[in-house]
Amino acid sequence: MNRILKIFRTPQELAEAFAIVIVNIINEAWKNKNPLTIALSGGSTPKLLFTVLAKKYSKSVDWNHVHLFWSDERCIPPVDPESNYGMTRKILLDKIEIPEKNIHRIKGEEDPESEASRYSEEIIANTRSVNNIPLFDLIILGIGEDGHSASIFPGNLKLLSSKKICEVAAHPVSGQRRITITGKVINNADKIFFLVTGKSKAHVIEQIFKKEAISENFPATYFITQRGEATWFLDKKAAELIDTTSNC
Ligand code: 6PG
Repeated sequence: MNRILKIFRTPQELAEAFAIVIVNIINEAWKNKNPLTIALSGGSTPKLLFTVLAKKYSKSVDWNHVHLFWSDERCIPPVDPESNYGMTRKILLDKIEIPEKNIHRIKGEEDPESEASRYSEEIIANTRSVNNIPLFDLIILGIGEDGHSASIFPGNLKLLSSKKICEVAAHPVSGQRRITITGKVINNADKIFFLVTGKSKAHVIEQIFKKEAISENFPATYFITQRGEATWFLDKKAAELIDTTSNC
């Protein structure tokens, strides 16, 4: 398991650096005339990244061959302030020239079970596949304070080993229903990046980085590409309890 660790002084510096990574991946794909598929995470951490992309790269990047998906969505309408798509639409999508057909949102307002099936089909139709599993070129994940990623919560091994592409999950505290891509799809991605900032995540980062093996209490320990890689972008506060001497 090769966890590539990049530490930044502030969330802003992390967002600026990761925006460059994404833009380079987009430009590289365009050079080879390949469509690029990116699964975005929700929550609050990506907001800074989306702000940087909208502010600095709305015109200088050719978004025409980029297809955006979500790793998970809350089962609420897109106008709800908690909607991952709604947040992305407001901060990023309305500010870049990306064809609407390239935006593949999870319809949180629909019946969860039927939407999980529909979204699975939408993913199949708009991504390439390897080993009969959809392959996202890039998956961006966050980490909850309980160690969840996407909407795969601690102890929910079913979502890690599910043969499905999408499943319905429920937040263990609020009970809020969610639709999430499964562990098999996440691990089939070409690149997995975690973006984690803030002191509130330091303990869960410490736990994750202590573990070499997969821990059902920390689903993020499970997420690694077929090449055995995951890249972690952390700010100093999120990394304060781990040994970062070997990383920039
Ligand atoms: C979601 C996200 C979730 C998120 C973590 C971290 O829908 O909530 O996809 O997996 O990445 O909960 O959230 P914050 O960035 O808000 O800390």
